[in-house]
Amino acid sequence: MKVLHIDSSVRSDRSVSKQLSKLFVDSLAQKNGEVTIDYLDLTQNTPKHVSALFIQGNYSNPEDRSLEMIDELADSEALVDRLHKADIYVIGMPMYNFSIPSNFKAFIDNVVRIGRTFKASENGFQGLLLNKKVYVINTRGVDFTNEAFAVMDQLQPYIKTVFGFMGLSDIQFINVHPVQFAAEEARIKAISKAEMEITAAVDQLFIQAQ
Ligand SMILES: Cc1cc2nc3c(=O)[nH]c(=O)nc-3n(C[C@H](O)[C@H](O)[C@H](O)COP(=O)(O)O)c2cc1C
Repeated sequence: MKVLHIDSSVRSDRSVSKQLSKLFVDSLAQKNGEVTIDYLDLTQNTPKHVSALFIQGNYSNPEDRSLEMIDELADSEALVDRLHKADIYVIGMPMYNFSIPSNFKAFIDNVVRIGRTFKASENGFQGLLLNKKVYVINTRGVDFTNEAFAVMDQLQPYIKTVFGFMGLSDIQFINVHPVQFAAEEARIKAISKAEMEITAAVDQLFIQAQ
């Protein structure tokens, strides 16, 4: 089982999403020594914003690309390779201003690639990242079970759309809220609930693998 573990919080030790995504992959590794983990911290290794040269290279046939285009696309190619190699993605992701962190958006812009993660044909668009399972551990400062906040969630619909476009339809969200603007008791309860969901998800993965 190959796992791609991605974190996107700008915080380090104090990050709840990082603690929980680590719990997920550590639990997987404890259950099975054959699990391999490829770790990507998008705060430490933030992909570059895409450039005009990147776009030109992306939409040129691979054999027609200039050396400059090949060079500009190199980091993106490496990220796409990592997505193809993994069977499971475990993603720690805080909500920032009702959506995804900007480092994760830079990552998305680097990996939504024609001919690599999706293709276009007369039948429309088709995703190329197939048979992968995705877990998104999404921390939020406030309680989004509150209807007034729930309608403001631009993160979950966006992730479903853009991942779905690349063929990733099997996505489980582990939403952790409230972790900031709340009494300590509510915060502890939210984190405990997430820990239980992670344990159940890991157990389920091993039941399916048997
Ligand atoms: C720039 C920024 C924007 C944020 N925007 C929101 C938001 O829109 N909604 C929300 O519930 N929490 C928001 N928060 C709070 C974080 O989502 C929350 O603290 C989360 O736990 C951070 O994850 P971490 O502990 O992994 O760093 C924001 C925090 C930051 C730093």
